[in-house]
Amino acid sequence: MSDITLTIDNQTITVATGTTILQAAQQLAKEIPTICYHPHFSPPSLCRMCVVEVEKSRVLAQACSRACESGMVVRTDTPRVQQARKVILELLHSAVDVSQATEILEYTRKYGAEPERFGGGKRRDLPLLDDNPFYVRDYSKCILCWRCVQACGEDVQWTFAIHRAGRGFETRIAT
Ligand code: SF4
Ligand code: FES
Repeated sequence: MSDITLTIDNQTITVATGTTILQAAQQLAKEIPTICYHPHFSPPSLCRMCVVEVEKSRVLAQACSRACESGMVVRTDTPRVQQARKVILELLHSAVDVSQATEILEYTRKYGAEPERFGGGKRRDLPLLDDNPFYVRDYSKCILCWRCVQACGEDVQWTFAIHRAGRGFETRIAT
């Protein structure tokens, strides 16, 4: 496996081919915020919270899934990156109840996101389901991060018992 050398926030690092920007940043003890990513699952690349700037790239890159490239120049915390993360959080607040999601609340504080900025729109408001002895389903708090689907599927259990159902705003995790 060949090595790739790149810079992240002006620090040079050499990593193995296939290493993601997030993994390389972690090797440098840099924190890039994530929501949908979990180290034991393949990245679903859904939330975009992990976006970073890559020099000469027009769009922001998702650090959790973008592989490092030779000569890449990455910046993980520029004003553009911070603004993108702030808006992502504000949109999340506008769509679901994250009042018990402590990591997201901490990011909200850190990036100065205004939870009510996109208020007035329609929020996910589905009835709470308490129909079995094992767990309660409160879809109004589901951020559709996909982790439960991955745990149930190829990343852990291979049972494929749950998946996405519905479309658009009505999308939910279902059996
Ligand atoms: S129910 Fe699944 S998709 Fe929804 S927040 Fe929990 S782990 Fe994520
Ligand atoms: S953490 Fe990278 S897209 Fe969600």
